[in-house]
Amino acid sequence: MIYLDNAATSFPKPSIVAEAVYKQMTEVGGNAGRSSHQGGLQSGRILYETRCAIAELINCKDPLEISFTLNATEGLNTVIQGSISAGDHVVTTSMEHNSVLRPLVEMESRQVTHSIVWGDREGQINPLDMKKAIQPNTRLMIINHCSNVTGTVQPLGELMKIAREHNLLVLLDASQSCGSLPIDVEALQIDFLAAPGHKALLGPQGTGFLYINKKNKIKALKQGGTGSRSEDLHQPKTIPDYYESGTQNIHGLAGLKAGILFVLENGVDHIHAHEKKIMTQLWEGLSVIQGIQLFGPPPDGCRGSVISFRGKNLDVNQMNYALDITCGISARAGLHCAPLAHQTMGTYPEGTIRFSPGPFTTPEEIHLVLAGVNDIMKELG
Ligand SMILES: Cc1ncc(COP(=O)(O)O)c(C=O)c1O
Repeated sequence: MIYLDNAATSFPKPSIVAEAVYKQMTEVGGNAGRSSHQGGLQSGRILYETRCAIAELINCKDPLEISFTLNATEGLNTVIQGSISAGDHVVTTSMEHNSVLRPLVEMESRQVTHSIVWGDREGQINPLDMKKAIQPNTRLMIINHCSNVTGTVQPLGELMKIAREHNLLVLLDASQSCGSLPIDVEALQIDFLAAPGHKALLGPQGTGFLYINKKNKIKALKQGGTGSRSEDLHQPKTIPDYYESGTQNIHGLAGLKAGILFVLENGVDHIHAHEKKIMTQLWEGLSVIQGIQLFGPPPDGCRGSVISFRGKNLDVNQMNYALDITCGISARAGLHCAPLAHQTMGTYPEGTIRFSPGPFTTPEEIHLVLAGVNDIMKELG
């Protein structure tokens, strides 16, 4: 199998990730923050070390500003539902995932309105358009750092400047960038950042995190046991307990810690450079195959490790099926949970095929992928 679906979830995971999960399951018993026996304390240590690894990765000064979530969606929902209220307005982009768009539509029933700023055909947002969309009651700006459809990276510095000038809170969806593009929450003065643990951080599914700059107090999505202040029937106000009710996914988080340490050891810049090289090979190879139409920005500038394409006169699902069955290539076809991104590119409603290489993809694999696409186009195109 040639795995080109890292934007959905990364594969394979480094062996140290699987080993860390196994070790936690077989050698360390205990519920972090609850039991004070050796296993409980060790589990608590693992949680804290995972927070520290995330903090190092995104340059956040206080690891307690990191709360664990099940995935990126939970973090995004926490901010969307917890930071704004009736009468507020949100600005966001047409490149967002449904995990931003659907909560925003849901918030309409709570009298929260939003405006979508449309990108150009490559998915790039013009900061001036963002500026124009801001209203007197705008409170939150949501930015998809790197598109899961086109790999487009937004001009974060300029967008942050506009947000600051208008006193807006900023939520960064770093689902496709955290672990493969450098992020500095301190330098950019980001308020909130949501990311999954199971994509470029190379951790297990069921893990993710939300960075909340501690100057911002938002409402937690849920309340419950935290292992702290058990005498109080009110949710403790201390962070991260306030945001983390219920038993943590300690097995998954032990694996996430190992995944992030792998990323830190190899270096985000190094991983990005590798993926850029692979993307360039892929883009150049696909662009010379007769009948292939490519979408999104070319790989010369800053972009993520995602490429969208389709074959002329070919149904994307049929082609994707052929890639899987005849060439053993795992990719994803359709709208990728981002319908407005496809409207932006002009590929709605049929969508595209998405290849998303990862840190373990090799040039030899891409060579085979290009030959496979070529054969399919000759046969079916
Ligand atoms: C840009 C973007 N945002 C959010 C998500 C949701 O991530 P998760 O499934 O981990 O909640 C994804 C997943 O593909 C994504 O690509």
